[in-house]
Amino acid sequence: MSSYLTRRPRRLRQSPAVRALVEETTLSVNDFIYPMFVMEGQNVTSEVASMPGIFRYSLDRLLDELSVVTDLGIKAIDLFPNYPEGKKDKEATESYRAGTFYLEAIHQVKAKFPHLMIMTDVAMDPYSSDGHDGLVAPAKDGSLEILNDETLEILGKMTVAQAQAGADFIGPSDMMDGRVGYLRQTLDAAGFPKVGIISYTAKYASAFYGPFRDALDSAPKFGDKKTYQMNPANAREALVEAELDYAEGADMLMVKPALAYLDVIKSLRDTFDIPIAAYNVSGEYAMVKAAAERGWLDPTRGMLEVLTAIKRAGASVILSYFAKEFAMLK
Ligand code: PBG
Repeated sequence: MSSYLTRRPRRLRQSPAVRALVEETTLSVNDFIYPMFVMEGQNVTSEVASMPGIFRYSLDRLLDELSVVTDLGIKAIDLFPNYPEGKKDKEATESYRAGTFYLEAIHQVKAKFPHLMIMTDVAMDPYSSDGHDGLVAPAKDGSLEILNDETLEILGKMTVAQAQAGADFIGPSDMMDGRVGYLRQTLDAAGFPKVGIISYTAKYASAFYGPFRDALDSAPKFGDKKTYQMNPANAREALVEAELDYAEGADMLMVKPALAYLDVIKSLRDTFDIPIAAYNVSGEYAMVKAAAERGWLDPTRGMLEVLTAIKRAGASVILSYFAKEFAMLK
């Protein structure tokens, strides 16, 4: 049979050498920020039940683990604190009190690993007895609301405390209006012009944060986060958020979660020329792990496909619980 096809795309898939040559998207360990959890105490390592392979570490154990992680080539982490219920209050005062174990952890990590990029999380939820990212107050109609501008002041204090402790980049994950500009000014006024902002620009009200809230015991005590986190149905609204964050001085724009929002990653990538980050969140990690535990898919191939898709969509920075596993591959 004679060949009538001029263009045969399979020619470019015929061997590993050709496939490697024409590969459009490659992942590197340099692309990752590894989210990690620190808790009080000594010599404690506690696995997050819904995130196999991910642990909460006391500071001593965290430092040990970081030796392993940095030896693997990981250059950036995002550190989250797990506070006991007894230390939480309505105003999240523990988030900026001098000398807390989280601030001490940032300080010691920086001292021991001066070249590691440390990102910290700015939001009230790990410290809030209400489990919300902002300040909760009764509204006129008797319902409870999340106050915006009053929350900014608390976020400002938290930000300065984290910068003083040694954070390189702060990650406002709270979704209050105007916080990027407010925190930029606050950092500059406090003498931290070099501390950057990786803004959670398009953060959606997502079911995929479930395992993370287990890890930090930080689920909201009432209601949901829909008055501040975005509606999963909205993509154009992400551009509004991004324009604001860009204008207010964000150094990177982040989309979160990643997998169900690849279109949003792409649209931010096409519109803005600063780095776009994506947060491959806890539930996305848990999905792959849970299916793999049941033998329903190959975990390594599943991980690589997910991470490649996030990068292909346009994220040049990926926050992922898979970072260590990825770094161990080669
Ligand atoms: C809190 C915060 C959340 C995550 C990062 N920062 C949870 C939330 O908004 O409820 C989620 C991360 C993940 O699921 O991996 N401000």
